Parts: sequence; structure tokens; C-alpha cells
Amino acid sequence: MSGQRASGPFGKNKELRRMISQQTIQQILSRIDIIEIVGSFVRLKKRGTNYLGLCPFHNEKTPSFTVSPVKEIYKCFGCGRSGNTISFLMEHEKYSYAEALRWLAAKYNVEIEEKEVSPELRQQQQVADSLYILNGFAGKWFHDTLLQSEEGQDIGLSYLRQRGFNDDIIRKFNLGYSPEQRDAFARAALSAQYNLEYLQKSGLVVVRDDKPVDNYRGRIIFPIHNQTGKTIGFGARIIKSNDKAPKYINTPENEIYVKSKILYGSWLARQAIDRQDECLLVEGYTDVISLHQAGIENVVASGGTSLTVDQLRLIKKYTNHLTIIYDGDSAGIKAALRGLDMALEESLDVKLVLIPDKEDPDSYVRKVGAAAFREFVAAAKKDFILFQLEVALKDAGTDTNRRAEVVNQVAETIARINKAEDFTKRQDYIRQCSEILRIEETGLQALVNKFIRDRIAKQESKAAAAAPSSPEDMPLPQDGEGMPLPGDEESINLLFKHEQNERGMIRSLLDFGLRPWDENTSVADYIFTASADIYDLIDNARLLKILDIYKNWYEEGLEPTIKSFLYHEDQELSTLAVSIMDFHHELSLNWKEHFDGKIATRDDLYKEDVLSTMGYLKLRKIKRLMEENQQDLSKPHTDEEQMVLLQTHLHLKKLERDLMQHLGTVIVK
Ligand code: GTP
Ligand code: MN
Repeated sequence: MSGQRASGPFGKNKELRRMISQQTIQQILSRIDIIEIVGSFVRLKKRGTNYLGLCPFHNEKTPSFTVSPVKEIYKCFGCGRSGNTISFLMEHEKYSYAEALRWLAAKYNVEIEEKEVSPELRQQQQVADSLYILNGFAGKWFHDTLLQSEEGQDIGLSYLRQRGFNDDIIRKFNLGYSPEQRDAFARAALSAQYNLEYLQKSGLVVVRDDKPVDNYRGRIIFPIHNQTGKTIGFGARIIKSNDKAPKYINTPENEIYVKSKILYGSWLARQAIDRQDECLLVEGYTDVISLHQAGIENVVASGGTSLTVDQLRLIKKYTNHLTIIYDGDSAGIKAALRGLDMALEESLDVKLVLIPDKEDPDSYVRKVGAAAFREFVAAAKKDFILFQLEVALKDAGTDTNRRAEVVNQVAETIARINKAEDFTKRQDYIRQCSEILRIEETGLQALVNKFIRDRIAKQESKAAAAAPSSPEDMPLPQDGEGMPLPGDEESINLLFKHEQNERGMIRSLLDFGLRPWDENTSVADYIFTASADIYDLIDNARLLKILDIYKNWYEEGLEPTIKSFLYHEDQELSTLAVSIMDFHHELSLNWKEHFDGKIATRDDLYKEDVLSTMGYLKLRKIKRLMEENQQDLSKPHTDEEQMVLLQTHLHLKKLERDLMQHLGTVIVK
């Protein structure tokens, strides 16, 4: 039963080969008491149905950290962090998902049952395992060679010392040296029983003329670690400058070296980032190492490529404050800036610092010392959007066309800040940028709104948002839902509304899916087979994903609930589930007040809830179809086509009327 199975051929990494069984997870989840768990890290006081305490994730004097025992989630109204018990442990204790489960299992005395994983996955994990072990061996071998061999000392060590790296830091980063000899490392590895296939896969060895050849000959070795400190690959720097050979060679992509997810130094930076609530990002390995040597440890490197979403998300796990420090004339700046619009969508707060005078962070911190370096960074920190704007304005000079282009660009960038909670931030930018541009704030606002609309329109692929339809043609439902209006503000409010209604639909499914609809069917059955295709009613891709997973589970005979998603291993889904049942949305509040003075709870009204959320989405769909039809009507066409279009119009009109009537009986406004 328990985890006492014989270990596989690779005795060391048992954990990788097994997964905690779904049953165990269910057992653990059923026992979770969020107040008890969070309460053991945070002092909580009861306030109404919720509990309140000082947020453990940011500094505050008055408590805004709220825990809901009913919903099993927490949310800080100060810093905005939210999640469930497991994400709390992951964030607060820096556990992985599995570690958090094990911790809870130990706490609640749940015996962990482990399951063998699928053969393909196991195969992949075996490869990964072998690569980790091989890389560990190689890292040590290069390091020992650097410190102990004559050639290592004469060439490698003296180079590093001459650059000012001390022995402690060389050890901390496990720097190494690969000798000039053709196959010094390959021989060592082969005689230690590592097989050639893996040596090639790891990029350490290449085969030439049927003979193994070391790939990093005569180079300084920078081992690259993942967040947990395992060696996933290497960067190898040439020592003597050479026009032909590349300055750095890196591990090729393989099962464990995935370039887009690597942040060099993250395994050493995590705690410092936590403490300072800021992550410094530099370009090069040597920048990271030098800053560490100077005592600045909250630093990671991107490796000179443009930032990827994965890297940004990793940073976002540690902090919301990213400070990018590049040398002033680095080609990397453009690459870095390219990635940054994504940072805005991730709600990361990004600052930029340029190091002057052809220095890079490595050389600059050596030149001025740690204290001056810190001061410089603090003083030179520029907001990334404002920075971008100033650079672009300078480039544009007095050319009116190019200045107009700049205005457009900045509006587009600002439009990416479109999470509801970032609203104030966006308004701040609009104000500051309009000042810098010397244009009317309302003008920039309108432009930003336009870009937001464009983005949404693109997402709502078929929506004909641009075409305002004639008002007398389409009576508005009471709250204006579903109708694109020409005014900017309205359109944006509408956007939030759409999203709210889609969430409402998913929430109804999660809350009530398993309840009876009629004698033979459940609410879920109804939703999946109702007249309109539910997939057609929802635009938001992430919500669709939840819908899809729910449907699969449901069809497999499982009984999914909101909890299944709240504790889903995919953090994105779990976060979304949290936000769906966020403290703010109490969708049916109106009803409680309006049902003939009778206090009806949402539970009693679940069918109405389903009908009305679905009704609104259907109504929106009909309106879209009408708009499309309207557009077709305004294009040139034959009389026959005209007939068809008009009939379609009438048909849609009738559908709409029926639906509104029906909704009217469901929702008393
Ligand atoms: P030093 O010149 O030794 O101080 O290294 P650096 O880290 O300052 O290098 P540089 O600023 O030239 O480049 C920054 C980062 O880009 C490096 O750390 C590498 O990750 C990457 N890089 C630079 N040159 C190359 C190259 O030729 N090939 C590859 N793959 N990456 C490179
Ligand atoms: Mn450098």
C-alpha cells in the first residue's frame, strides 16, 4: 500500500517515477481546513464569516489578508495575492505542488499511496533523471579540473582570478574548466559508466569521425541550475578571444534544458528576491556572479535573449517588481523590451536601468563598488513605459508623422494593462504619458480604449464590434448587455460584463452541475446539451479550458466540483477557479432582494441561475449574429440575397424577443 515499493533502476530519484494517487489527493483535500493551515503561519481573527490577518506576503500595519473558510480561499486586498491552501503553502513555504501535498498528508495522517506513471512519462523522466545525474557528474568534474589540474589552474583559474572572481564565488557558482585535450571529459565520463548516447544528448560530447569529442574544450564552464538547484546544462565561455568561435556555447535543448524557461541564478536568488521584493534582471552569467560577489543577490540573468512569458511568470512567482539592468548600448535592450509588453499583461511592475559608459553590470559594480551600484540603480530606475516613450520621442524628433506613430505605440502598450485590478495604474500612465507627449489626456484615453477594444474584438473573433447598429432596431435589455455602443467607456464596461457573464456561466456549472435538472438529467447534462452549443457561447480561452476539462471528467463518470479546479495542479486553472469564486462576485445579490420580499438563497434558485446566465450569453450571441447580418445588409447584394438576409433578421429578432421574455420571468429587476 504505502510508498515502500522496491525502487527502480535509478535508485536515487524515486519521487520522479511515482505520482501521488488521485485517491490520496482526494483524501487530503477533504481534510483541509484552510483556517487551521493558514492560521499556523498567520494570526487570524474572525470577522463575520471570514478571517482577517496581516498579510504574510507584503508589509502592512492594518490587516487586509482575508481567509474564507467556506470558499477555502484567501485573498489579500492589499497586495492582491489570492489562492487556496495548497497555493498558500507553495507560496509561503516555497513548496512544490507535490511537497505541499506531502506536508498536508503528514499533518493529517493520510497515508500516501503512490501510483506508477504512464510508460511514456516514465521514459521521459528516466531520460531527465539520467541527464541530471550526468550533469551533476560533469559539473563536479569541470570544477575539480579548474581547481586541481595544472592546466585548469594555469589557464582557467588564472583567467577567473584576473577578472576578479574570488575563490568563494567560484565555488558558490561551481565554475569549472574544460581542458584543451580532445576528449578528456568524454574519457572520464565513459570510464565512469555514463553512456555515449546521454553524453551526446546533454551536449557535453559530440561524435566526430566516430570518436567522442568534448564540446567545450578550452572553455570556462558556467553550470546552469534550475530553481531547485539541479544542474540542467552549461554555458561555456571561450578564454582567448577568437573571431571565429562563438563567445559562449550552450547546452542544446533537451528534456531538462528548455531555454525559454531558464533564469540563470534563480536557484541562488530566490530568498533575496523574497526579502527585497524585487528581482534584478541582467544579461550575462558574469553579471550575476559579480553582483553576488558584491553582496547583491536578488539577481538573475536571461542569457541575452528576449524575455519569454515563462520567464516572466517565474519572476512573477517571486515578486511583482522587476528591474532590468542592461548596459546602455547593448543589443539586448531591444530584445528585452520586446518581451516586456507581456510583462504588463502579467501585471508585473517593470523598471529599467541602463549602465553608462560601455560598462556592463559586472564591470560597473567592480568599478564603483556595491554601495554606489545600489545607489545608482535606485536613482536611475526608470519606469519601462515612460522610458520607452522617451526613447521613441527622441528618435522621432520633430517629424509629425513619426510623433503620431509614437502616440499610437504608447497607447497600444498602455492598453495591455487591462486587468480590472490594474485600472488605477493604467490611468496613471495615461496621465503621465499625455504630459510627456503634451497632448490632451482625454485624447490618449480614447486611443487607449480603442486599442483595448481592438484587442478584445480580435479575441472575440467573429464579433462585429466596430459596427454600431441602429438603436431602434434592437431594444436593449435593461442593463445594456450585449450591445456595442459607440462611446468608449461603455464599451469597456461591456467588456467586463461579458467576462463576468461568462464566468457566471462557468461558476453555475461548477456549483450546480451535479444537481438534478429534471428527473433524468443533471444540470451539467442540461448545459452540455441545451439548444445552443455552450462552446459557442463562451469566448474566454481559459474558461473554455475549464469547461472542456469539466466535460471530460464528467463524461468519465467523475464528479467535478469547484474544488477539483481549486486544487488543480495547473496553477493557472487553480488561480482562475479562485477568481471565479472571488469574494467580490455575488452574482445573485439582486435576486435575494427582489423575490417578493421572500429571502431566497442562491441555492434554491440554481435552475434560474443557470437559465439566466445562459440566457444572457445566448442573447449576446444573437446580437452578434444580428450585427453580422446587419453588416451583410449594408453590402451590395441581389434582391434574392436581400430576402434571405431580411428573413434571417426577422428570425433572429424573434429568437431575441422570446429569449428576453423568458429572461424577464427569470430575473426580476
Ligand atoms: P563576459 O564578456 O565574460 O563578461 O560575459 P557576459 O556575460 O558579459 O557576456 P555578454 O554581455 O557578451 O553576453 C551576455 C549573455 O549573452 C552571456 O552571458 C550569454 O548568456 C549570452 N551570449 C553572449 N555571447 C553569446 C554567444 O556567442 N552565444 C550564445 N549562445 N550566447 C551568448
Ligand atoms: Mn561582461
